[in-house]
Amino acid sequence: MKRNILITGGAGFIGSHVVRLFVNKYPEYRIVNLDKLTYAGNLENLKDLEQKENYCFERADICDFERVLAIFEKYEIDGVIHLAAESHVDRSIKDPFTFARTNVMGTLSLLQAAKHYWNGNWEGKRFYHISTDEVYGALELSHPEGVEPPFSTTASSSEHHLAYGDKFFYEDTPYNPHSPYSAAKASSDHFVRAFHDTYGLPTIVTNCSNNYGPYQFPEKLIPLFINNIRHRKPLPVYGKGENVRDWLYVEDHARAIDLIFHKGRVADTYNIGGFNEWKNIDLIRVIIRTVDRLLGNPEGASLDLITYVTDRAGHDMRYAIDSSKLQKELGWEPSLQFEEGIEKTVKWYLENQEWMDRITSGEYEKYYDDMYKNR
Ligand code: NAD
Ligand code: DAU
Repeated sequence: MKRNILITGGAGFIGSHVVRLFVNKYPEYRIVNLDKLTYAGNLENLKDLEQKENYCFERADICDFERVLAIFEKYEIDGVIHLAAESHVDRSIKDPFTFARTNVMGTLSLLQAAKHYWNGNWEGKRFYHISTDEVYGALELSHPEGVEPPFSTTASSSEHHLAYGDKFFYEDTPYNPHSPYSAAKASSDHFVRAFHDTYGLPTIVTNCSNNYGPYQFPEKLIPLFINNIRHRKPLPVYGKGENVRDWLYVEDHARAIDLIFHKGRVADTYNIGGFNEWKNIDLIRVIIRTVDRLLGNPEGASLDLITYVTDRAGHDMRYAIDSSKLQKELGWEPSLQFEEGIEKTVKWYLENQEWMDRITSGEYEKYYDDMYKNR
């Protein structure tokens, strides 16, 4: 079947993996990547797709309703996968306005454009909004008496997994966001659901845990630390490094998005996560060990770079997603063990140092002008 799918934020980290998966897997679809190219957007992430006939790029701001509507009309869009957002919690603490503008008003503008263009003809249409586990708030670190965390639990699925507490985020966990980033994402999720309930727009929302893998902007923990180790720069650990995150390899998230876009129930919500909780400091030690080994450094050579710094304001202690609904209903499961995923990820950053260096030097921002502007 022919489809015209609009993917927003496709020049970012997760978006670039979703665009690549869809362009390669569905040659019969036309994939339109709409991205403003903020500091986080990097068209070099998609160099391998530039010559593909079923791929188009539109530089646009999702907040620009007229422009977004014109793109719906130009490409006869019948499906949306919405990833464009301001995504970094630390930046949201410094500049909440930009987060409200893009994440809330930008999502609203896309919703309005879809509603206007589809005009009540919802048959075969989809508006799929990508959200985060951070909207659920923070969980406590807790464990059964006498048991050292992480402990093994069957709390949620048939699989045993390691956890730092006995509570999880489920699809019906009430929203309780703490950072300006998660407050803006929560607001956008509410708007998406309101457009289904009020107008009948065929929406789906998913909430995913922390992603890792190639092409992540080096402000986020894993690529930042890999790059700092390479340059023997300090590794700034917030607070005591005790916070827990649930990590998922980015291509597994992209596979889940593909499955849910095609098979998910309209108006429903699915949690996506790896059942893979790590205390920051333990994860950082794994990264150090892996980078040192791959660079041929003596074991432990970079441990001295660990530098404890002032904690992030309002730093959520633990996120833990229960993704058993997605596993049971649609048969998705993560394909990579964490050790394998981290090895692949560290290798990718070390083998693609030019990609990283062009970001840290700012050269990547010229790529659009050099390659696209006069097309
Ligand atoms: P990212 O910061 O790497 O990429 C965001 C992309 O959105 C960039 O290409 C940027 O140019 C674009 N963008 C920003 N503002 C825009 C605007 N006004 N108009 C058009 N494009 C704009 O983000 P990411 O980590 O890939 O996250 C993608 C989505 O997934 C976000 O919605 C985020 O909330 C969500 N998410 C991320 C994670 C994670 O671990 N990274 C986990 C769960 C959910
Ligand atoms: O949980 C999903 C979320 O994961 C997404 O919605 C966000 O878009 C994404 O950025 C990510 O948010 P985090 O704040 O969890 O990711 P970050 O990589 O910034 O931080 C991971 C953990 O590491 C967090 O507890 C803060 C800590 N940290 C981070 C940085 C950048 C440090 O200790 N030092 C650092 O320098």
